[in-house]
Amino acid sequence: MNDTHTFTPRHILVTGGAGFIGSAFVRLVLARYPDLRVTVLDKLTYAGNLANLAPVADSQRYHFVQGDIARREDVLPTLRDCDALVNFAAETHVDRSILDAGAFVTTDVYGSLVLLEAVKEMGTPRALFVSTDEVYGDVEEGASVESDPFAPRSPYAASKAGGELLARAYHITHGLPTLVTRGSNTFGPYHYPEKLIPLMITNALDDQPLPVYGDGRQRRDWLYVDDHAAGIDLVLRRGALGEAYNLGGGNERENIDVVRQILTLTGKSEGLIRYVQDRPGHDRRYALDCTKAHALGWRPARPFEEALAGTVRWYQQREDWWRPLKSGAYAAYYQQQYESRFAKS
Ligand code: NAD
Ligand code: DAU
Repeated sequence: MNDTHTFTPRHILVTGGAGFIGSAFVRLVLARYPDLRVTVLDKLTYAGNLANLAPVADSQRYHFVQGDIARREDVLPTLRDCDALVNFAAETHVDRSILDAGAFVTTDVYGSLVLLEAVKEMGTPRALFVSTDEVYGDVEEGASVESDPFAPRSPYAASKAGGELLARAYHITHGLPTLVTRGSNTFGPYHYPEKLIPLMITNALDDQPLPVYGDGRQRRDWLYVDDHAAGIDLVLRRGALGEAYNLGGGNERENIDVVRQILTLTGKSEGLIRYVQDRPGHDRRYALDCTKAHALGWRPARPFEEALAGTVRWYQQREDWWRPLKSGAYAAYYQQQYESRFAKS
């Protein structure tokens, strides 16, 4: 696309910027654009962690505000000086949405509405809502294109669909300058250890059992976190308003193969694998057709095997980051989610 069509933000409000992908986006754009300012608004839920933003904490161009996207009084003052919004803030773990979906609707749906109303009131020039491939539901064959109907199957996926459909509706009804990205399963450093890859790495490092749901033959398309952040940055700058863009890694793997690779990389035995009771409503497969994002100029740069090895090394070297996260509330969640599964395995 011609450079005259490129939007150049001056000051981005990054909501949910203390989480896994949001913090990677903040680190990336501050390093890439020397004149850019970033304000992070984050509630600091169990998944939010200021340690993820430690590498930029001393930057004069970065500012942190603790607050809730579902509270207008938190959002409006932080958005006032910004010319772009990128929303990462969400409840993100499918298993937790099965245990209790309330916070998912409050943040992922109602929080998106609050952000859209604030964008409308402030006249913010651009607002990107980060969404997920899970809105398409289970994809038995082929790959989802952006115009496919939604068929979310978990409370998490349904909440994300609700949030991004509001962004689309506000574009059509009110002319708001919204964009949506739908990313595939993301992995890399600073990933909270409730999700498959960091859970398996940290359990393996501690010689703890690795809980594989069902037969382990479910397929996910893995995307390295810096590639996901770069895709969001490109769509923000070059995407067509009102459009959605798939961002997939092109690395479709069965879960059990990923788990086996992690055991090889950590030098641990396959005897640690435990097949446990499946996740209810478990989607077998997601797959994205990314022609539209490729046409903008985006391609994932890191090969999966190399990125997974680098991620394992990061967790080996950064026990100071993940070990404190695996106590307290995490331990209670882990017990609720896995204790009876291990007992029955
Ligand atoms: P994460 O769980 O690591 O981080 C979420 C962040 O949002 C945390 O910092 C948390 O404190 C913050 N937050 C939660 N509720 C909030 C609220 N009400 N107000 C303000 N902040 C709040 O999530 P992630 O994995 O980095 O995902 C980021 C976004 O990308 C989400 O919207 C998610 O749906 C989407 N996504 C994730 C993946 C993935 O594989 N991780 C893939 C595709 C899309
Ligand atoms: O596809 C994008 C989505 O990827 C994001 O929108 C979500 O925020 C993110 O959490 C992720 O959802 P998944 O449910 O695919 O990710 P999770 O890491 O929870 O699980 C990946 C696969 O591994 C899935 O098939 C379930 C399986 N699994 C997961 C856990 C936590 C296991 O077999 N055992 C486990 O203990």
